[in-house]
Amino acid sequence: MVLTPERLRRLALWWLVFLLPLLPLAWLVERALAMDLGADPAQAIVQFTGIWTLRLLFVTLAVTPLRLMFRWAWLQRYRRMFGLYTLFYAVVHLLAFATFILGWRPDLLLRELSERPYIIVGTLALLLLIPLGVTSTRGMQRRLGPKWAKLHRLVYLIALLAMLHFIWQIRSSFQEQLIYGLILAWLLGFRLWKRRRRSRGARRQTA
Ligand code: HEM
Repeated sequence: MVLTPERLRRLALWWLVFLLPLLPLAWLVERALAMDLGADPAQAIVQFTGIWTLRLLFVTLAVTPLRLMFRWAWLQRYRRMFGLYTLFYAVVHLLAFATFILGWRPDLLLRELSERPYIIVGTLALLLLIPLGVTSTRGMQRRLGPKWAKLHRLVYLIALLAMLHFIWQIRSSFQEQLIYGLILAWLLGFRLWKRRRRSRGARRQTA
């Protein structure tokens, strides 16, 4: 295979996009090894992986609006990668919770599930992410046909569940949740607006 400047540029961009989402995890591991995660390292790890799951979910949802607004066609190629990173961080988040907070004790899990509804909502969001990850390949997309797009619309429900999981944890200040909520409202609002415009255009054409 000949490495043309265009191919080289694409390759460098791919590696950049592949490595960037790993930086937060690398930072977390470095802080943990340096024993510098604050007074409650277990909670710090769970919170850190949780917020990065949400951020990556938002990045995945932002791909289409950014592509359309700025005509960044190249961004579409990385949507699947961002989605898979969201699933990866969600699994790390769950494993951190199970290991550092529950110590893998099923009785503690049952207690948490009955006392903290936000855990149920988070678990539901994670469970829904799994079929999206499994069917994210081109082969699956071809095999499922129009059903694929329908299935992948679940991402909006997942985002709402993830946001609910976050909001349910508000203790005193809700500034952070408000900012994330506004970003999500924009991401979902953009989709609705686009869809409305498309159906209005189609109606006008048939008329
Ligand atoms: C897509 C799935 C999920 C997303 C997007 C998500 C997101 C988040 C976010 C944003 C936070 C708050 C971080 C902060 O305070 O800065 C958080 C905290 C937390 N999440 Fe999740 N989460 C998910 C799934 C789960 C699951 C499956 C569990 C457990 C079964 C879980 C348990 C927790 C716990 C225990 C906390 C920390 C609460 C505390 O501060 O005491 N999450 N998560």
